[in-house]
Amino acid sequence: MNQIILLESAIIKQELTKLRDKNSSTATFRNSLTRIGYALAVECSKFLETTEFEIETPLEKTTGYKIAHEIVIFPILRAGLGFVDPFLQIYSDAKVGHIGLKRNESTLQPEEYYYNSPINLKEHEVIVVDPMLATGGSAVSAINNLKERGAKRIIFASLISAPEGLTFLSQSHPDITIITAAKDRQLNEKGYILPGLGDAGDRTFGTA
Ligand code: PRP
Ligand code: URA
Repeated sequence: MNQIILLESAIIKQELTKLRDKNSSTATFRNSLTRIGYALAVECSKFLETTEFEIETPLEKTTGYKIAHEIVIFPILRAGLGFVDPFLQIYSDAKVGHIGLKRNESTLQPEEYYYNSPINLKEHEVIVVDPMLATGGSAVSAINNLKERGAKRIIFASLISAPEGLTFLSQSHPDITIITAAKDRQLNEKGYILPGLGDAGDRTFGTA
């Protein structure tokens, strides 16, 4: 059964406000995306397995811990790229796989145009990152593909989620953990999240 985790704090609310504001500059947008990215990355670590080993402090022996499985961060292109830097700041040894999905704006269905990932996903802890979980089509499709390639332990981290996307993703993949910084009200007729922040890819890359 899924765990759906909502990040809630004053700093997250403040940074989300800057992301939502249509008057924020591209620089401000990227900066806030990065700051929330750090918080999401740290939250993900609560769901990672650790192994124990013995170490010695200058005073005595004690238990040390390390993350049990290698991590691969999977941004869904394009907008997911905005989370790669903050996640790599937290998981400095992580690998990065890429999956390119573009919503067909008429059908709202995701279409894959690029895939490149490390082998042996079965051995990894896979963290899929995408700022927007709208209909959930992109996330479900990405995770379908990753499971077909062997992924077993999967966390999905997003900035803003719509109720429709949360329901579709959690019902399609009841085994994954979903972490989000905001649960918004609804989708509009074009599949945009309300109140949302507009097109995350365009705002991240200044292509609006
Ligand atoms: C956005 C976003 C998600 C997707 C979410 O990508 O980054 O990947 O839409 O929508 P969904 O939940 O309805 O699938 P988009 O297709 O706009 O591509 P882009 O990142 O290249 O702009
Ligand atoms: N993709 C976006 O970038 N924004 C939305 O609101 C929905 C999908």
